[in-house]
Amino acid sequence: MAPINDDFSDRFDLREFTPGTDADGAPDARTAPWMDAVGMGFHEGTLSHESAARMAADFVEDGETFLGVYLREPFPGSVDETWPVGTFTWLRKGLSWGDGARVDTQAITGVTVRPTERRRGILRAMMTHALTRGVEQGYALASLTASEGTIYRRFGFGSAIRERAVSVRRNRALPFLAPTSGTVTVVPLAWLADGVGRGVFDRFHERTPGSMVRNSGTWPVVFGALTGDGEKAKDVRGAVHRAEGTDEIDGYVTWRVKDSGGETTVEVVDLVYTDDAAYLSMWEFLLSIDLNDVVQYKRSRLDDPIVAALADNRAYDVDHEEDHVWLRVLDVPATLSSRPYAVDGSVTLAVSDAMGFATGTYRLDVVSGAGTVTRLSSDVLSEVDGAGVDVALDVADLGALLIGSVSPVTLAAAGLLRASDEAALRLRAMLLPPRTPHGITYF
Ligand SMILES: CC(C)(COP(=O)(O)OP(=O)(O)OC[C@H]1O[C@@H](n2cnc3c(N)ncnc32)[C@H](O)[C@@H]1OP(=O)(O)O)[C@@H](O)C(=O)NCCC(=O)NCCS
Repeated sequence: MAPINDDFSDRFDLREFTPGTDADGAPDARTAPWMDAVGMGFHEGTLSHESAARMAADFVEDGETFLGVYLREPFPGSVDETWPVGTFTWLRKGLSWGDGARVDTQAITGVTVRPTERRRGILRAMMTHALTRGVEQGYALASLTASEGTIYRRFGFGSAIRERAVSVRRNRALPFLAPTSGTVTVVPLAWLADGVGRGVFDRFHERTPGSMVRNSGTWPVVFGALTGDGEKAKDVRGAVHRAEGTDEIDGYVTWRVKDSGGETTVEVVDLVYTDDAAYLSMWEFLLSIDLNDVVQYKRSRLDDPIVAALADNRAYDVDHEEDHVWLRVLDVPATLSSRPYAVDGSVTLAVSDAMGFATGTYRLDVVSGAGTVTRLSSDVLSEVDGAGVDVALDVADLGALLIGSVSPVTLAAAGLLRASDEAALRLRAMLLPPRTPHGITYF
């Protein structure tokens, strides 16, 4: 389909607005058609009144900002008379660097373009508008999770953390090679949802590099009250962990049991832990559930300690691995000075950014684990050796490195980052996170 009109604004009207609800709690006149358009974009069914009201209330609670792109001259009778042909939203979402350090990100979600209007620049227009607003609002970086792996690099996003869907076969898993500790107790879901579970997540978030704050709409799903489609869930159960000799809850797990391909499977819905002992014990509990063949966990981190803990490490299968959170640096000094560093040192980075937000050459100096950043030039100073530049990279690759899950040595090997071997190793040592990054937030 060739563009009918080369000029975006002749054909489309881009509007920014705040979602809202009417007097009955239903999505208001702008919010409802926006939600219908998103539902179509992600191939979702029509929402019940109750689900739509709940979702709209969550958008309001999370302080979202919506973008809608509207056709100026829709065909009569088409949904385009009321629905936007492009949708986009952002909200403030904290990213943890681990051990209490954090930064706010402009978290982008709800990105869809109607098939009849795709490839006319709607996504590019929405992204440019949103990131420009993000800079105005003082965000140091933007974040998103992607439905496809090839869309967002062109906008400066790099894949910063990956995740694995894994299956652990019960018959070869136990006993663990090291003893577990503490106790696991099955609890009513309503009790877990009443403050206990969120308290555990807060502590997980605080200590875990790569963790992100969750949307309001996530909680009823992970606590087993609702399905992902907003309907009543009936098949979820939950348990908590307490450390030896204390009454304090330091982990919880929710799960459902299902039949898949003739096998019974325990599918983990949410697994949240404030220390390694709780994580290990809850896995042991899941693997102890009788009348079951396999435990499936779709949010496993790379370098999962369970592999080492299992009686037979071959009980653990990686079913799938893919990108999880993508990061886009908007302000290099603010981003790099928000995270802690494993070792002291200095490194000069020349950052290219096709959208211009982060372009420049910067020196990062780390003293006692804290970074300060000096902007040496608003240009990308050229060669890695010539002008004293240690590392030259695209802003997308800077985003990929930030959490410490992706190594500069690996990106250099991939031909994406230019640095001497020594400089790549130095930067890798500085960025080393306090423990394996783990993201269990979807948005
Ligand atoms: C992905 C999607 C939002 C793209 O919207 P669009 O308006 O057609 O994109 P644009 O016309 O603005 O294209 C912008 C750029 O992205 C590229 N692009 C767009 N969609 C792409 C895709 N699926 N894969 C790879 N590249 C893509 C275009 O080629 C263009 O590149 P260029 O600017 O370098 O020339 C749209 O196809 C869509 O709604 N898909 C279904 C829902 C979805 O996947 N949403 C993403 C959720 S994370």
